Amino acid sequence: MKEPFKILKDKIAEAQLGGGKSRIKAQHEKGKLTARERIHFLLDEGSFEEIGQLVTHRTTDFDMDKQLVLGDGVVTGYGTINGRMVYVFAQDFTVFGGSLSETHAEKICKIMDLAMQNGAPVIGLNDSGGARIQEGVRSLGGYADIFYRNVRASGVIPQISAVMGPCAGGAVYSPAMTDFILMVENSSYMFVTGPNVVKTVTNEDVSSEDLGGGLTHATKSGVTHLLAGNDLDCIEKIRKLLSYMPQNCEDKPPRLPFEVGDEFREELTDIIPPSSTQPYDMRDVVNGIVDYESFLEIHSGWAENIIVGFARIAGRSIGIVGNQPMNLAGVLDVNSARKSARFVRFCDSFNIPLLVLVDVPGFLPGTDQEWNGIITNGAKLLYAFSEATVPRVTLITRKAYGGAYDVMNSKHIGADMNYAWPSAEIAVMGAKGASEIIFRKEIQEAEDPAAALAEKEAEYAEKFANPYRATARGFIDEVIYPRETRRKLIKAFAMLENKVDTLPKKKHGNIPL
Ligand code: HXC
Repeated sequence: MKEPFKILKDKIAEAQLGGGKSRIKAQHEKGKLTARERIHFLLDEGSFEEIGQLVTHRTTDFDMDKQLVLGDGVVTGYGTINGRMVYVFAQDFTVFGGSLSETHAEKICKIMDLAMQNGAPVIGLNDSGGARIQEGVRSLGGYADIFYRNVRASGVIPQISAVMGPCAGGAVYSPAMTDFILMVENSSYMFVTGPNVVKTVTNEDVSSEDLGGGLTHATKSGVTHLLAGNDLDCIEKIRKLLSYMPQNCEDKPPRLPFEVGDEFREELTDIIPPSSTQPYDMRDVVNGIVDYESFLEIHSGWAENIIVGFARIAGRSIGIVGNQPMNLAGVLDVNSARKSARFVRFCDSFNIPLLVLVDVPGFLPGTDQEWNGIITNGAKLLYAFSEATVPRVTLITRKAYGGAYDVMNSKHIGADMNYAWPSAEIAVMGAKGASEIIFRKEIQEAEDPAAALAEKEAEYAEKFANPYRATARGFIDEVIYPRETRRKLIKAFAMLENKVDTLPKKKHGNIPL
């Protein structure tokens, strides 16, 4: 009889070998790390504790009982990232293509339940051929068990999904219900139906990469929030992303040590171009306000007319939403409203204060927008801001026109502090459009209609294209010089640190989905 310690040692070695050396080699040849290597680089060194290493599947059909692999295609456990607890699962493509069996699903569910009970994030590293075909409905049930937990955990603990290989069919819906999806360019894909089905049904020829690769989802669909160049880059991005978040909805985000100096930023002084139709990069404003190199942009390649991301101000985590004049003049449209609404709701769920930078000429007109539901989608952003109870600070850098003024975290929908630069223009619409409507008769009857329009336009602009009327009403708390913005915002977020606000008692609201 074998000595008990020797049995254990052999079993651990067997489990660590996963699907075997040749499959590990194949994984490396594709430029991918194995599940264990991914976990090794993700977690603080030596912190990983594995759970369920010796689990095997229970299927007997198709001779599966002769193919038992310890761990059953998923490595699960817990460890720390920058000293903070996280729960993690990594699907092992070397074992039955990382496919999800009943027991594989049970292992993931166990990790999710522990994460919920103990209030720490869950990170899923997905690399799977989907439902374990040999198991039929038991595998489908396993997926549903995970989906159910994803929803229960939503808003309670941060959930992050990295798609680092195939993710097809119904399997996409677990990542889709987590807070953030990262994908690795050229080695991962997500789609509900693959290229073959697409060809049969719609006669389109499309590759897996074009249909659902990382770049596609980072630029066309918005499914992925962050795109990584390779596995290691993806893992680095997960670690960074987590650094802005609290452990759970009752925790506060971590605060880095910071000594406040004079904090003037002269580079903000000339950021607004002389003409109000000239673009500038709102990221320059962000970088002029936040702590050095602290801005992590989310969804940077999709709906680029709005920017969202995390940053720190005097060491505090904040979420940033800003119109981007460089793209479509910063208008709000269907996708930018969806993108920012979801981000606002994440920040609000996890006690991350919001900074909103406004330069918005209004909503994008057109049949495309109306028929794709700009009404419902625009309402998402309005709803998300109105519902948010975290500290909320707004800075209007230039335009705040029409309904978009209301939507972009105005005082009226619950913002705490509203600032404007002297370059702010706050009005129902731009001077030209407004003059053409309200002075139409006078302009038509004038000897020189063009000159009359120009005169009226100037008159309107003088009256309304400034921040002072709104400030006189208290809708703007203070008009500030660009160079002192960072200083003012550091103080404002410190002042709002202990904000307490609650929503009326309800089961849940009915956001216009
Ligand atoms: C069982 C699977 C498997 C699966 C792959 N394998 N997918 N075993 N169930 N779903 C096994 C293969 O048999 C193979 O075993 C090994 O994993 C590696 O697969 P390869 O095909 O050799 O790898 P590759 O060429 O890289 O192709 C990867 C792949 C392909 C594109 C993922 O394997 C594939 O198309 N798999 C089936 C995908 C699928 O249709 N899944 C069901 C989707 S529906 P050996 O022993 O030969 O190495 C679904 C519904 C979820 O998931 C519903 C939730 C509600």
